[in-house]
This record gives sequence, C-alpha cells and structure tokens, in this order.
Amino acid sequence: MTVGIVGAGPVGLTYAVGLAKKGFGVQVVDIDKNKINSLRGGKVPFYEKGLEEALSQAIILGTIAFWDQWNLDTLPDIWIICVGTPEGKDGRADLRFYKGALSSLVPFLKNQAIVINKSTVPLGTAQMADAFFKTQVPDKKIFVLSNPEFLAQGKSMEDFWDPQRIVIGQGHPEEFVRKSLEEIYGWAKCPFVWTDWNTAELIKYASNAYLATQISFINSIAGICESIGADVTEVAAAMKLDDRIGKKAFLGAGLGYGGSCFSKDIQSLISLGKETGAAVELLEAVDHMNDKQIRRFISKITGALGGDITGKTIAIWGLAFKPHTDDLRSAPSIEIIDSLESLGAKVRAYDPKVGEKILARCPGVRVCSSAGEAASGADCIALCTQWEEFRDVSFEELAASVRSPILVDGRNQFDKELLAGLGWKYISIGR
Ligand SMILES: NC(=O)c1ccc[n+]([C@@H]2O[C@H](COP(=O)([O-])OP(=O)(O)OC[C@H]3O[C@@H](n4cnc5c(N)ncnc54)[C@H](O)[C@@H]3O)[C@@H](O)[C@H]2O)c1
Repeated sequence: MTVGIVGAGPVGLTYAVGLAKKGFGVQVVDIDKNKINSLRGGKVPFYEKGLEEALSQAIILGTIAFWDQWNLDTLPDIWIICVGTPEGKDGRADLRFYKGALSSLVPFLKNQAIVINKSTVPLGTAQMADAFFKTQVPDKKIFVLSNPEFLAQGKSMEDFWDPQRIVIGQGHPEEFVRKSLEEIYGWAKCPFVWTDWNTAELIKYASNAYLATQISFINSIAGICESIGADVTEVAAAMKLDDRIGKKAFLGAGLGYGGSCFSKDIQSLISLGKETGAAVELLEAVDHMNDKQIRRFISKITGALGGDITGKTIAIWGLAFKPHTDDLRSAPSIEIIDSLESLGAKVRAYDPKVGEKILARCPGVRVCSSAGEAASGADCIALCTQWEEFRDVSFEELAASVRSPILVDGRNQFDKELLAGLGWKYISIGR
C-alpha cells in the first residue's frame, strides 16, 4: 500500500517517517520548498526528539520521497492530510491550507482512494470534503475519513508507535476502508474507535479542551493556594491519587498552556458554540484563566524587583512552549518577553533548542548559549520552560554570578526550601 502525506510539520513528518519505516511507500508533499530541500538532505528543519534519526533510517530504507510541488508521478492508495489549521478570524479555524490541499489532491486521486483528515478540523469538514470530491471527481469513488491526531510534540515518535486510541470517523462504512486502515495502523495495540465524521472531529476538540480545562483549573486552585497559604503541588499530587482524576492528569500549575493546538482548538469550539447557541461559558473561562496566568507571572517578576523594572536585566530560562521541541507557536515566553521589554527591562534568554529563532519574534533579546550565561549579571531569572537541564544548575554557584539571587519559577520546578536555604528569593506558582 502506498501513502501520500500532505504537509510535513510535526504531525505529517512523524507519520511519513513512521510509515516509511513500516515499509509503506511514502510520498510527502509540502508547499514549503526550503522544508522539502532540507528533508531531502536528511535534516528536519525544526526540533522534535527522535525525528531526525527516524528520517535518516527512512531515507536509507528508500521508502520515502519528498515533493515541493504537486507533481507526483504515482498515485498513492491513501492520502493523509496534515496541513496546519491555525486560528482564523473570530476564533474559527482557518481552513485555507486545508482547502488548498483538497484542491491540489484532485488530479492525484485514483479510484477508491482513501483521504484521511488528520489535521484538526471543525465539525462538518469531512462532510464538506466528501461533497467536494463528489463534484470534482464524480467518476471516482473517494473515501473521506476523519482520523484526528493525538500525538504530543516533544514525544511525537513515541506517541506514533504507542498511540492510546485511534479514532476513525466514516461517512459511509465500507469493509475495504476498514481493512486498509487496520493495515496502515497494523502495529497499534490500542482500541480503535469507529464512528461517524462529526463525532470523530468532536472527539479531538473535546480532548484538547478537556486537557486545557485541567490546566486552567489547577491554575485557578494555585491562585487560591497563594491567597490562603497552601501548596498547589501537594494539592495536585493528592488529587491524582484518586482514580477518577488519574495519575497522569494535567494538573501542573504554571504559566498555562501554549503551543499550536490548545488555544486555537478552544477558540474554535467557542466560536462553534456561539454559532449554534451551545453553552460555551466554561471554555471561555478556561481561555480567560490562561491569559490571566501570564499577566500574574509578569506581576510576580515586577513585584520581586520592587515594582519598577526599568533598566533591570531579566534572564529567561526556556522559550519553547514546552520541553523537547523548539516550537514557539503561542509560547508564553513571547508575551512575557514583550511585556518585560515594554516595561523597560533588558531580556537575555537561553533555551536548549530555540536559539536565535527567537529573534524573528523578539529581536531585542540577547540570545545566550547556556543558563549560566543568561543568568550572569541578571537582576532576576524567570523560568518559562521546564527543560530538565535547568534542574542540574548549581544555585549555590550561580548566586555568585547574578546581580540579585531572585528566581521566578513559572513551572514549579524547584524545591522552595532548598533555594531559600541558599539565600535565593524564590517565587513560584501557588506555593
Ligand atoms: N503539532 C501538534 O502537536 C499536533 C498534534 C495533533 C494534531 N495536530 C493538528 O495537525 C495539523 C498539523 O499540525 P502541524 O503542527 O504538523 O502543522 P504545521 O503547520 O507545523 O505544518 C503543516 C505543513 O503543511 C504545509 N502545507 C500547507 N498547505 C499545504 C498544501 N496545500 N500542500 C502541501 N503542504 C501544505 C505547510 O507548509 C507546513 O509545512 C493541525 O491541524 C494541528 O492542529 C497538531
């Protein structure tokens, strides 16, 4: 069976290299020429743990090909659409790339081709694609499926090999389609959820909205902890002992969620609710709480420095929206840097993977090559991303190189008693 992947972002490339490794013939199309050139040379143009090694293996196997234009010479049996669906006007998902992909696919569809929507798309999109193909290629039978993706950046290959569920929404169930999908996902040991198009599309949005809700919930509890003098990390740890809540619950208080998915997916559900009249007040509160969390963090920094931060030097530790990626999409660090600079501070930053990429978004930042270099001479360190290497820093030694030993920890990474014992002013979230 041969597979065409449309879009070589974290999702598309993970599927491309994973399926190529499984021996499927994979053709990857992306309209970004630079990206395709880099991939042909075995270089992944963004950081995602394990992806570049997997790409090299697929290239050696000879089962993967890259196209920077829609000029493929063979027609795949299955197409997997993995293009971006960013937040558009009024919070709705912007389907520009998705619609572009559908149009480009038309000349490359064989009869009985399966077209899988892996991009996160609003309810009704699979139905719309089905109607589109019926008018554009009326002589061919095309099977559109909604098969949303649940992998997490930072561990996308891990999630690819060990998914927790595979959701497949069909319009018109067919045994041939079921068998093809079972072959494609041959390695997966998890439950397969077969459902209709709209339900599959909503499962994705509901899952992300629920995870985001847990984050805003615990941040709300963190605020209460601060007001009464309790420790949110202990509250969360004890909550997770309840099976109904679960030991993997998203209950880490901090800067809130970032990244390319949670925020836009919540916005998309809110706008859908407004269109349909469904109640979305809870989701609006989740979104509001998330915005507020960044403002509270900035107040903690300014408060720690006596209110006026004009001319102060602040070291930002971690820029990516989460560890093990260099993705800056909706990363809290960006809004934090913008605010600190607008209040007159000078910002130095270190992230193990982002490096100078931050300058495209925050040109005033001085990019440093280690946590220690960023902290040297700083009036305050603000931790934005919980990269493991920050936990190895010797705060005893660092105290000698900072201007003042102040650490504002946006991810509750450190032992507050230990830092206080070393003479640091340590401020975290909800503790
Ligand atoms: N990133 C994640 O962690 C994640 C997880 C689950 C689901 N998703 C969803 O999966 C989708 C893809 O996410 P991503 O982060 O990989 O996206 P991305 O924006 O990083 O990458 C998409 C790629 O598609 C390419 N593209 C756009 N239009 C094209 C076209 N017409 N033909 C060929 N290529 C085209 C772009 O050049 C880009 O390289 C989104 O809908 C997202 O919401 C993402």
